[in-house]
Amino acid sequence: MEHDFTTHVNRRGQGSSKWESMLRDCPAAGEDVVPLSVADMEFENPPEVRRALHALVDSAVLGYTEPTRRFFDACVSWQERRHAWSPRKEWIVTSSGVVPAFFNAVRSLTRAGDGVIIQPPVYYPFKMAVEASGRTLVENPLVLDGGRFVMDFDDLENKAADPANTMLILCSPHNPVGRVWSAEELRRLVDICVVNDVLIVSDEIHDDLIMPGYEHTTIMRVMRPDEYDHVIVCTAPSKTFNLAGCQASVIYVSDEGVRTRFSEGFRRLAQFSLNIFGYTATIAAYEECAAWLDELIGVVRGNYELLSNWVARRHPELVAYPLEGTYLAWVDFRAWGLGSKELESFMKGEARLWLDEGYVFGESGAGFERINLACPADVLVTSLDRLDAAASRRGLGTTTGRGRA
Ligand SMILES: Cc1ncc(COP(=O)(O)O)c(C=O)c1O
Repeated sequence: MEHDFTTHVNRRGQGSSKWESMLRDCPAAGEDVVPLSVADMEFENPPEVRRALHALVDSAVLGYTEPTRRFFDACVSWQERRHAWSPRKEWIVTSSGVVPAFFNAVRSLTRAGDGVIIQPPVYYPFKMAVEASGRTLVENPLVLDGGRFVMDFDDLENKAADPANTMLILCSPHNPVGRVWSAEELRRLVDICVVNDVLIVSDEIHDDLIMPGYEHTTIMRVMRPDEYDHVIVCTAPSKTFNLAGCQASVIYVSDEGVRTRFSEGFRRLAQFSLNIFGYTATIAAYEECAAWLDELIGVVRGNYELLSNWVARRHPELVAYPLEGTYLAWVDFRAWGLGSKELESFMKGEARLWLDEGYVFGESGAGFERINLACPADVLVTSLDRLDAAASRRGLGTTTGRGRA
């Protein structure tokens, strides 16, 4: 392997949200404990990005900055090479994050009181965006079909048919259940939304993190140009290359009318441009880091195999759902019979594991945990060993013969 995915990075004292939140909970968390929660990675950034940022600091004046032609070219070319579609430069609206982008979409593209559909269990800021904007939250929960999460299209059809519901926020690939939606599933969703005049905000921030054997289809590939007024697509280099702190995301809004309203929304908040580091990091990542990403995907896939083998051998009463995309595993711990708060305190207090609790993604997530797999493999192994030991002490699971299968 050409790049380093084994060194333990030291993030203590760097203001990392993931680490600070663990240390607030437990200032004495031991040196052996690495949080596996917030979706960034326990890996160094690609060397090409680090070099580009060093060169920037050494040579540039850090004044007001705007996107250059090279920035737009890097974004478009990445979509062409990696996702087989050709956005136009003028469709791009930059945003300091995908979260600010969908908050802005809800406020600027729906009216007060409109219903906004989400598909829980799902990335919890979707719900926050709807509620913080005084819109009505409408849930179209995912359902299980043969051990795989799927969309409930009948329910979606009913909800989309209500004229009060004017927007759907799609998570594609889906965080936390790890689904990579197929072209057929997406087309069916588009059919329902377009007929019922529901605008789709497609959050594709995990679009590059696709496991071998799966293919991400950007929603733009299943839409006809005459349907473009029903979609915006949110992407970013941040998940892919561990750049969340650079606060750069790239939103494609192909319809001019929608784009004007969306951009106006940002202008009302005086949100005009990214910081200088965001542009440089994005360019370096998209121009130079495809090989780093390919290696990363192999590492994440290997970690998922470690996890699913651990479940199969040590705790077959648990369910690790198939990881099609993202680096976030979704695991069902309900067989242990703990309430969701009890599970949380067991994880932190007894297993010394900081994960994302399933209940934060919606009611249907209660009893599940989201485990961040973007860490060196030995970190995952020691985390699972601690979990195993804590489960044995408590008599949870089949290894002791006392757990509920
Ligand atoms: C689906 C999804 N959207 C957005 C984000 C965060 O976006 P940003 O950091 O660009 O605001 C995340 C982070 O985990 C995510 O999973």
